[in-house]
Amino acid sequence: MTADPTTHPVFLITGGTNGIGKAAARAIAAQGGQVVIVGRDRQKTEATVAELRQAAGAPHIDYLLADLSSLAEVRQLAEAFAARYPRLDVLVNNAGALFTRRRQTVDGLEMTFALNHLSYFLLTNLLLDRLKASAPARIVNVSSGAEAGARVDWEDLQMTRTYNGFGAYALSKRCNLYFTYELARRLQGTGVVVNALHPGAVATGFWANPFGRMSRLLMPLTRLIMRSPEKGAETVVYLATSPAVAGVTGTYFVDKRVRNSSRASRDVAAAQRLWQISAHLTGWAAVG
Ligand SMILES: NC(=O)c1ccc[n+]([C@@H]2O[C@H](COP(=O)([O-])OP(=O)(O)OC[C@H]3O[C@@H](n4cnc5c(N)ncnc54)[C@H](OP(=O)(O)O)[C@@H]3O)[C@@H](O)[C@H]2O)c1
Repeated sequence: MTADPTTHPVFLITGGTNGIGKAAARAIAAQGGQVVIVGRDRQKTEATVAELRQAAGAPHIDYLLADLSSLAEVRQLAEAFAARYPRLDVLVNNAGALFTRRRQTVDGLEMTFALNHLSYFLLTNLLLDRLKASAPARIVNVSSGAEAGARVDWEDLQMTRTYNGFGAYALSKRCNLYFTYELARRLQGTGVVVNALHPGAVATGFWANPFGRMSRLLMPLTRLIMRSPEKGAETVVYLATSPAVAGVTGTYFVDKRVRNSSRASRDVAAAQRLWQISAHLTGWAAVG
C-alpha cells in the first residue's frame, strides 16, 4: 500500500532487508511517512516488507528490487522509483558489504568499490532532480569509522594488484566521505542536505556473511559484544528525520553527534578527483 505522497514524506532506503537498513526502515515507518526499501532478492524483500508492516504498525512500506553492484540495475531502480513516486524527501544510501576475496561485478569493476561507493554515487545523482524538487530534502550516507585506515592508491582503486577485504572496505567507506563532502559543496543553496555517519560496531549480516561458517557460529558472541541493529540505526534515523539536523550538511556523525572524520577524508582535491573518476566509471558524466 502506498501513502499519499502529497501529505507523506517519502524515504528510499537501500539495504532495507537486513541489519541497520531494516531497523532504520522500521523506525522511520513507525513515525509515519512512506518508506520504500530496496532489496535484491524478491522473496526476502517481500517477506521483509510483510514483517515491517506488522512490526511498525505502518502500512506504508513498499519495495523495489535491484542488485546495486550492477550499474544498469541502479539505473533501472532510479527509473522505477521516479515512475512510482513524484517526490523523494530522504534517500538513505546504506547497502554495503565486505568481501574477503576479490570479486568483479557484471560491469568488470571491483565489487566493494562498486557496491559500497559507486551505487551511492550513481543512485544519488540519478535521483538528485527529484530530491531538489522535493526540497527541503536529505541524503544520508552510511559510512564507517574504518575509513580512517584507508590507503588510497589512485592508480589502482580497483585493487587489481593487491587485494585484501579490509583494505577494499576501508577505501570504499573513505569514498563515502569524499562523496558526501563534495556533494554537500555542490548542493549549497538547493535545500538538499547530505551527511554521513558511522553506526558503531553492529551485530548484523555484515559480520555473519563474509567470513563463512565460523563467523555464523560466532554470531551469538558477536551479538553480546556489538550493538543491536536498532541501536546501530539510531543515527541513520536521526539524520533522516530529526528537525535538529534539518539544515546541517557536509557533516559526519557518530552516535547522533558531530565528529571529525579522518583528516585525509576532508581533502577537497581528493574528493573532487574521486568525483571525476566515479562520473567516468558510472557513465554519469555522459548523461548527467
Ligand atoms: N555492521 C557494522 O558493524 C557496520 C559498521 C560500520 C558501517 N557499517 C555499514 O552499514 C551498512 C549496512 O550494513 P549492515 O551492518 O546492516 O549489514 P547487513 O546486515 O549485511 O545488511 C546489508 C544490506 O545490504 C544489502 N546488500 C548487500 N549487497 C547488495 C547488493 N549487491 N545489492 C543490493 N543490496 C545489497 C543486503 O541485502 P540482503 O539482505 O539481500 O543480503 C542487506 O539488506 C553498510 O554500508 C556497512 O558498510 C556496518
